[in-house]
Amino acid sequence: VGSVIWHVTMSLDGFIAGRDDSMDWVVAQWSDAGENTRDVDVQRSPVADEVLQSAGAILGGRRWYDVAVRKFDGYEGIYGGQWTGPVFVLTHRPPDADHHPTITFLSEGLSDAVTTATAAAAGKNVIVFGANLAVQCLRAGLLDEIVIHLVPVLLGDGVRLIDAPDLGPVALDRTLVATSDQITDLRFAVRRSR
Ligand SMILES: NC(=O)c1ccc[n+]([C@@H]2O[C@H](COP(=O)([O-])OP(=O)(O)OC[C@H]3O[C@@H](n4cnc5c(N)ncnc54)[C@H](OP(=O)(O)O)[C@@H]3O)[C@@H](O)[C@H]2O)c1
Repeated sequence: VGSVIWHVTMSLDGFIAGRDDSMDWVVAQWSDAGENTRDVDVQRSPVADEVLQSAGAILGGRRWYDVAVRKFDGYEGIYGGQWTGPVFVLTHRPPDADHHPTITFLSEGLSDAVTTATAAAAGKNVIVFGANLAVQCLRAGLLDEIVIHLVPVLLGDGVRLIDAPDLGPVALDRTLVATSDQITDLRFAVRRSR
């Protein structure tokens, strides 16, 4: 059985989306003295590539889905179109409207949703998208790893990595630190005390 991994890109001040769910900061540009322009592009991180290659299914929250459909081509835009596979969205309100056939909406509760996604992943990893969902997985002891791409930008406002004052402390073990250009890749295992 694979792992359940929260895969997320984060600003230095701890936001995973900017105000109004903006993600334009993920591919940002820094210019050196007006001459060389350097991209920050998470998709170029070998660690991101590794997570993508090992992903057997995605389990997303309804807000992730709504933003993905509104701004990023929905299913086609997942990992910039570089990944295909089963996608599950946990929601209390499955949509009536048409949606991509590879997306399944689940309302059966968190633990059953993780079980369903794990079965669909067929031995590969389940990737979690959405902070609210990921925190629930953490609380339920269902999250194995957190992979963070730290982007050197300060946003000041937006969706926080963790917005759960009563959550902690949750002990983690850092299992990897790497850099690719301006990105710092961090990988943590959730320590199991239960
Ligand atoms: N930086 C990154 O790498 C990255 C990655 C992914 C997403 N994002 C951003 O993160 C934001 C989305 O994250 P989020 O934390 O706001 O929301 P989320 O986790 O994507 O979605 C939360 C919603 O999912 C549904 N849900 C969650 N748990 C459920 C349960 N147990 N049973 C049934 N439904 C459940 C509920 O919606 P309903 O009650 O309405 O169904 C809940 O309000 C967006 O801005 C997105 O762009 C960033």
